Amino acid sequence: MMGNTFGRLFRVTTCGESYSGGFRKNLDIPKELYGGLLTIVDGVPAGIKIRAEDIQAELDKRKPGQSPLDSPRLEKDKAYIFSGVMENDLTTGAPLGIVIPNNDIEDTHIEQYRQYKDLIRPGHAEYTFYKKYGQYSDWVGAGRASGRETVSRVAGGAVAKIILDKMGIDVIGFITESHGIKAKPISYHMAKENYRKNELNCPDLEMAPRMIEDILEVRANGETCGGVVEVIAKGVPAGLGEPVFDKLEATIAHALMSIGAIKGIEFGSGFELANMLGSESNDPAYLDEESGRVRFKTNHAGGFLGGISNGEEIRVRLAVKPTPTISVAQDSVNVDTLKEEALSPITRRDATILPRIYPVCEAMIRIAILDAILMAKGYRAIIDIDEKWDNI
Ligand SMILES: Cc1cc2nc3c(=O)[nH]c(=O)nc-3n(C[C@H](O)[C@H](O)[C@H](O)COP(=O)(O)O)c2cc1C
Repeated sequence: MMGNTFGRLFRVTTCGESYSGGFRKNLDIPKELYGGLLTIVDGVPAGIKIRAEDIQAELDKRKPGQSPLDSPRLEKDKAYIFSGVMENDLTTGAPLGIVIPNNDIEDTHIEQYRQYKDLIRPGHAEYTFYKKYGQYSDWVGAGRASGRETVSRVAGGAVAKIILDKMGIDVIGFITESHGIKAKPISYHMAKENYRKNELNCPDLEMAPRMIEDILEVRANGETCGGVVEVIAKGVPAGLGEPVFDKLEATIAHALMSIGAIKGIEFGSGFELANMLGSESNDPAYLDEESGRVRFKTNHAGGFLGGISNGEEIRVRLAVKPTPTISVAQDSVNVDTLKEEALSPITRRDATILPRIYPVCEAMIRIAILDAILMAKGYRAIIDIDEKWDNI
């Protein structure tokens, strides 16, 4: 299985599955590691203070079982740093190793999956995994396609956050739409002020209760629903990204679209741009009195021009599909008997992924931005740009 690392200079590798370690019970390893996750972060400079509690704070945002909107899974998701730091929590420049044991693996959960292991779960990754991994496919809890994999991304993103905080770069994710119920437009300041003020982390405090009530109704009917996550990155300097294949938008899209259940992405005014006139969609430049630098009066572009950051807020909107696992029987095929069969509900799931996916989006965009900063710094080490251009 390939593609478990993201980043070029700041590289995050994740490993671990939903439950599969549960099969290794005869091995002489602590039970907590059966379904544990591992994150390796390469490219962390020496001398950065990385404390397990800072990583924990991010993991706690995506932990299940925090509200009736979430899966009743009871994973503690406690992070342990086992390499890359020495006294006073300072990094040594060695790869940072973070292990996150799983405390919520029981035989009953594995048996639930075993019962349905030959049935294709609509909306989930079973069919494509059968095609790619055949009889070796991990059938318990979706393996690497499980939302559980994203815990290790959040750990990597937490390391990026510690470094980005020092640079004054702030990333914030929040919910603006759930099952068609929309929040009003959300500014960075509003998102900050109302961050995590309700279970859904929707900064529109009037609309959030309506969204939550609706999700609970959806859940009571054995159904699930999706919505829209928005992410803002503020303080990102101009000049990050490359003009052709490695446009910053493309790298960020890669980071975010690699998260399960995300099915659409827009930057700035996104699909609305398709209906605008040029004079409406262009962001006019002006000279900012305070800094003397070029700024843009509007931000339809969402923070990029020609694939390179323009110093304005990076704004991304992401469509999240409904949680695939539902409590309503659906048509399926048994890949062992090759007969059509209905698939009844399998196991625990989130009524909506929204409250647990935005920390993953924050993590991935942080990793992509920090990686782009390191790339840009490397380039600036060899190019000597005249101050005139540097200060515009
Ligand atoms: C944080 C998070 C939690 C998730 N929880 C569930 C879940 O409880 N049940 C489920 O069926 N899918 C869940 N998913 C979605 C699946 O992982 C995803 O739909 C699946 O891997 C198929 O990938 P695709 O939707 O991108 O095609 C979750 C995803 C994320 C990011």
